[in-house]
Amino acid sequence: MLDTSDQWILERTGISERHFVEKGQATSDLGAAAAKKALEKRGIDAAEIDLIIVATVTPDMFFPSSACLIQAKIGARNAWGFDLSGACSGFIYALATATQFIAGGTHKKILVVGADVMTSIIDFQDRATCVLFGDGAGAVLVEPAEEGEDGIIDFILRSDGDGGRFLYMPAGGSLNPSSVETIKKRMHYVHQDGKNVFKFAVRGMADVSQEMLDRHKLTGKDLKLYVPHQANLRIIRAAVERMELNESQVAVNIDRYANTTAGTIPICLSEAHETKRLVPKDLVLLSSFGAGFTWGSLLLRWEI
Ligand code: ACO
Repeated sequence: MLDTSDQWILERTGISERHFVEKGQATSDLGAAAAKKALEKRGIDAAEIDLIIVATVTPDMFFPSSACLIQAKIGARNAWGFDLSGACSGFIYALATATQFIAGGTHKKILVVGADVMTSIIDFQDRATCVLFGDGAGAVLVEPAEEGEDGIIDFILRSDGDGGRFLYMPAGGSLNPSSVETIKKRMHYVHQDGKNVFKFAVRGMADVSQEMLDRHKLTGKDLKLYVPHQANLRIIRAAVERMELNESQVAVNIDRYANTTAGTIPICLSEAHETKRLVPKDLVLLSSFGAGFTWGSLLLRWEI
């Protein structure tokens, strides 16, 4: 359906496969499935959840929030929740936010979901952008650390609104409400200046990852796993080279899922946990870069 080739996509991005939702499936369906799986692994009932934070740029609809929709789908009747719009950095923003509610002592079990149905907003006539994205979701449960556990150690969160013009969806919001005109002009799709995003992403993700290591007097060797946002293999490699990591220390699954926006990092974490690539006490660094611009890193000790 596009003037492209497998070779072009693989060489420029590292992507060979991706997944699309079925017609009628939405972000809350993917998010609820991931949330249920997380609860099952932890062996707890949804009624024990007290907060649900959903990082997404493709909510089912503007309102109600996807957090409320997921709450209903999983039966988390004692929770409250909200959506967080941080694009590709949404999951790290949401995880850092959850940490504050735990540290404040007011909440004990927080479900953080990263979920996006990017096929609902990509323009299949824009070959430079539509080949990059897929649909996917992941979820983690954040709880207070037990005696002797570190859990989430630190985070660095950044944004630069000047970057907004390089990656955005012009219509469907209050600036350009949906109209026949906006649809004709294909304004309800992701518009991206790929070269500029690439340039800022390479620098931003590598800088914020290295900054976290420096702040804690660590080197790449101290990390068990580096989990970067999966936007482009070349962006990941730039950060990996800067920190002098070897391949076995880096989570990469962009080849199988493409860029699922808020979904990439929790999907990587879930796979690393399932394959026992992560075991208790492993030091893990997460990092991301995305629309906004938004970027960040988060250091944690895996405790399960
Ligand atoms: N198939 C074949 N040719 C293509 C395709 C395609 N799918 N897309 C573009 N081309 C062509 C272009 O038309 C251009 O041809 P020309 O030289 O004849 O004009 C040529 O390939 C090179 O195009 P560029 O845009 O210069 O290609 P580039 O090397 O910059 O790669 C890409 C494009 C992959 C989009 C890159 O810029 C990139 O990865 N940018 C970052 C995008 C990103 O990661 N965004 C998400 C991060 S933030 C977030 O996750 C929300």
